[in-house]
Amino acid sequence: MSGTDTDADGDNPAETELEDYDDYRTTDVLVVGSGIAGLAAALGAAREGADVTVATKATRPEGASSWWAQGGIAVSRDDPAQFKTDILTASADTADPDAVDVLVEEANDAVQDVLVDTLGVEFDTSGTEGDAPDADDEWDFGREAAHDEPRILHVDASTGKAIHIPFLNYLDDREDVTILDDTAVLELVSHEGRVHGALLEQEGEVTPTFAGATVLATGGIGDLYPRSTNPDGSTGDGIAMAALAGADVEDMEYVQFHPTAFVGEDGDTDEPFLVSEAVRGEGARLVNGEGERFMPDYHEDAELGPRDVVARAVQTEREATGEVRLDVSPLDFAGEFPDLAEKCEERGVDWEAGIPVGPAEHFLCGGVDVDTRGRASLDRLYAVGECSRTGVHGANRLASTSLLEGLVWGLRAGEDAADFEPAVVEAPELLDRDPALPENFAREKFHRLRRVMDEYVGLRRDPDELGRAQAVLRRLKGEVDAYVRTRTARSLYELRHASVTALLVTRAAAENDESVGTHNLVEEPATPGAD
Ligand code: SIN
Repeated sequence: MSGTDTDADGDNPAETELEDYDDYRTTDVLVVGSGIAGLAAALGAAREGADVTVATKATRPEGASSWWAQGGIAVSRDDPAQFKTDILTASADTADPDAVDVLVEEANDAVQDVLVDTLGVEFDTSGTEGDAPDADDEWDFGREAAHDEPRILHVDASTGKAIHIPFLNYLDDREDVTILDDTAVLELVSHEGRVHGALLEQEGEVTPTFAGATVLATGGIGDLYPRSTNPDGSTGDGIAMAALAGADVEDMEYVQFHPTAFVGEDGDTDEPFLVSEAVRGEGARLVNGEGERFMPDYHEDAELGPRDVVARAVQTEREATGEVRLDVSPLDFAGEFPDLAEKCEERGVDWEAGIPVGPAEHFLCGGVDVDTRGRASLDRLYAVGECSRTGVHGANRLASTSLLEGLVWGLRAGEDAADFEPAVVEAPELLDRDPALPENFAREKFHRLRRVMDEYVGLRRDPDELGRAQAVLRRLKGEVDAYVRTRTARSLYELRHASVTALLVTRAAAENDESVGTHNLVEEPATPGAD
């Protein structure tokens, strides 16, 4: 049996028989996921001469979390030391200072090189619209919570989109990068402690794809919660596949909730959207159901306090007074945030009366444990972006550092991963012999999983309830595993990945008895001043 592709030298690699598959592919570097971290890894590897395949579930481009990023991308400007201090402070001093050094020292150059010089992203300037700044001080740096100074480059409040589309187009035009969209990765292929690629599913066909190195960039875990700012399909695939293959994961209990997602006029929409922290950075205020501004009672920095503190305060005030609104009257909302104003109008929100907001799952600070080059604990396996744990965020991430982390670690991992040749090895056999899944199978199981995560593993966690949640999730995973033995449906694998990841989050939360950052163990609701 022969493969469809050849390696970088034009030879077909090993002669291994793959009895269970009609075909296979080879590539120097397989990148799984197409957010900024995955695309930066692809760029880093291609610049080193590797032939790269990017496999993404997304039907481009909205399927990647990066596309949805609003606030922007922080840079160090001329004070990396202060940027480092802000990151460490926001993390309650739990971030890894060495990892933070890498981020702040490489921030300016990575943004200039990739986003400005290579992709031509036009960040907002303080000068005339359309003028490209020729000096650092002409950028219109934004300010967000817990940043000591304005240092956030942005394009309106749609920065993710403004980066992601040119990035995809740029890589699409390169002959050394192949992008496979609507393609799910079901399992990693590993052999004797080394990862050799993955099993890819496209239109129901499963094809082993052997790679010299495999870079996971699968994004977040929003689908584990009923309300999230992530796109659909954020099921923790990379984390679950890495953990199932034996890689280390870390800091899984640190799930960040964004304080200001639009929650609908009835406070319970199942289609929340992010109302960027940048809006509070420009002066918007949080008011409760009694029309009172409350954040000064919770933190000296009021609306610009650390994200976990603001999220818990918003939740407390919603429970006590029925609702929380973001009062945008102190700023020119429609002028400064036209995309957000339009989105509110599309959803029938009279933003002049305040935008109804509440916390929603936003970002996982932990993930696959990696070093400063994105290397995981398994040989030839890398992880970058939200599915990784670099140590930069510790227990709580500073706003507008996620695109930056994805960019810096993506480039570093891609460059490192470019060094290896693919080898064809035995791939796991996936059976697809039983009848298709019942129509509502995945939907019903996801519903149960989200309810457990919402009730027991959300903003506030009770140690006893975490034990109960683990028991429910273990049963659920057992049921899903039984189906996975004989069926290969994508929805089933997503459910499997979600249940493995949910268990990892819940177990880590149960094992950590210290309330810190996003991991908050309480039996009573938060009160003003408690943080
Ligand atoms: C936001 O725009 O509020 C989100 C930015 C971030 O999570 O870094």
